[in-house]
This record gives sequence, C-alpha cells and structure tokens, in this order.
Amino acid sequence: MSARHFLSLKDCTPQELVSLIRRGIELKDLRNRGVLFEPLKNRVLGMIFEKASTRTRLSFEAGMIQLGGQAIFLSPRDTQLGRGEPIGDAAIVMSRMLDAVMIRTFAHSTLTDFAANSRVPVINGLSDDLHPCQLLADMQTFHEQRGSIKGKTVAWIGDGNNMCNSYIEAAEQFDFQLRIACPEGYEPHAEFLASAGERVQILRDPREAVAGAHLVSTDVWASMGQEEEAAERHKLFAPYQVNRALLDAAAVDVLFLHCLPAHRGEEISEDLLDDPRSAAWDQAENRLHVQKALLEFLVEPAYHHA
Ligand code: CP
Ligand code: NVA
Repeated sequence: MSARHFLSLKDCTPQELVSLIRRGIELKDLRNRGVLFEPLKNRVLGMIFEKASTRTRLSFEAGMIQLGGQAIFLSPRDTQLGRGEPIGDAAIVMSRMLDAVMIRTFAHSTLTDFAANSRVPVINGLSDDLHPCQLLADMQTFHEQRGSIKGKTVAWIGDGNNMCNSYIEAAEQFDFQLRIACPEGYEPHAEFLASAGERVQILRDPREAVAGAHLVSTDVWASMGQEEEAAERHKLFAPYQVNRALLDAAAVDVLFLHCLPAHRGEEISEDLLDDPRSAAWDQAENRLHVQKALLEFLVEPAYHHA
C-alpha cells in the first residue's frame, strides 16, 4: 500500500520532524489568535483504542474538528475487532471508509499489520514498544522553551518502556545524547539500543544520568498492561524518583517533562509538576498542536467540488 504512515519517529526524516515541530508552533499561534484553519474539511479519522487514554483521544479528536474534519472513537469492545475479526481484514474495510486511522494498542505488530493492509495513513497512538506522537510534543516543548535540542544531553529516569524507546529514536533523529538510568532488567529493547549506538548510554545511578542534563524526563513505573507487576516494580524503582533535589544536579536551565498521567509520590515527588522547571502542562497541550501538524502532513487535503 502506498500511504505514508507514522508508526515510529523513524518513519520521518530528521528534516520532516523539525518541520512538523515548526508547523506545530505555527498552528498553536493560529489557534491562539483565533484564526480558522480547516484544510481537512470532510476528512474522517478513525481512532482505535485498545487501552485507556485522556490526552491522545482528546488531542486527536479536538485536532480533527479544529482542522475542519471529524474523528470517530472505536473500541474493540464495541467493534468486531474485539470478536476476532483479523486486523488485516479490518484494515482493508476501515481504510476504504476513513481518511486516516490512529491506533493505540498492545502489540506493535497490530500497527504494522494494519498499516500493511491500509490504503490510508496509520498513526501510532502508543504501542507497547513506542509512543512517537508524545515525542513530537516533547520535542516541540523543548524547542519552544529552550531552542534546538541538537547536541544537548537528555536524561531518561526509570523504566525502559515505550516512552524510553521513543526517546532513543528521538536521540538519533534529533541528534542529542541520551543517558538512561534504570534498574537492572528494565532496560529498553536491545534493538533500539543497537540502532542508536554511541548516542545512548545505560546507567544505574540517576544522579550520574542527570548531571549537567538539559532535559530530564520520566514516566510511570508500571505501564498499561503491567498492572500485576506494579507492587514489585514500586520496590525496585523507588531510588529512581525524580524530585527537586535530583533536578538540582542537572544543568541550571534544565527542563523537566512527563508525558502524563503522573503518579505523584511515585516516579515524581508530589510537588514536581509545580516546579518552575517542569513544562508538563505545555507538553500535554502541545499534543494537540503538533498532531494537527502531523494530520495536515499525512492526510490528503479537502475534496474538490463536483
Ligand atoms: N501521554 C498520553 O499519551 O496520555 P493519555 O494516555 O492520556 O493519552
Ligand atoms: N508508559 C505509559 C505511557 C502512558 C502515556 C504506558 O504505556 O502506560
């Protein structure tokens, strides 16, 4: 199939990614100035959610409406996907009716299988492996508040999860150094590490990882689907909490980001989102703006009049 997909940051060139972020900033400005911009009139985005979501659903749904289109929320519980219809068959049918499809799923292969059978762009709204849309928002936020991230040092503290894997891909695509501090056995996937090579370093000590870092980020200790491991993970991850004292060991102008939802008192201290070094609320808002840029980039513009 010929459609362009966004399953990973590697589906775009570094130049395209920078353009998306610049465009996200422009679209944010247009919205703040109350300018109507509706290039996707009559276009429809299908959104399949196998996992819960607040930000991803709202940002894609509101984003499509603001661009003049519509979004349809689909859950496996209410569709034939939950009753065993093969994903490839569903992709053939859905992509004949929709103009793009966003999928939040468990196995990353659900995305690749769907994309292989889809006529229209498929967007990864989070899988067990990757969360590339979140990285677009993170990179936009850093760019807005601190300028280019090229050559900077980023520290990822905690679980080597889907967000961490996407940070590794971001290190490659945006050209920054990434230090990951995680407990033994919770490293990111070897394939991502191998691809990033020298750009990424695995450490055990969070203080060593944040020393001089320009951006520090973390995420929940137990991701969606890992609820049964939560108690054991909490014991192991306790030394990896990001708090004000840890940020004090980073660069003086360090920015803190968290994809949210956060578990205050666990991976971050109760007060961290209120610290002036945290940009987590702007980061969450930027999901809307940068994904509108992504939709504008991927989805064919409006129909011609007959
Ligand atoms: N950060 C993020 O993807 O949030 P949701 O799970 O609320 O979509
Ligand atoms: N790692 C988290 C991210 C949530 C946005 C999860 O997968 O649950």
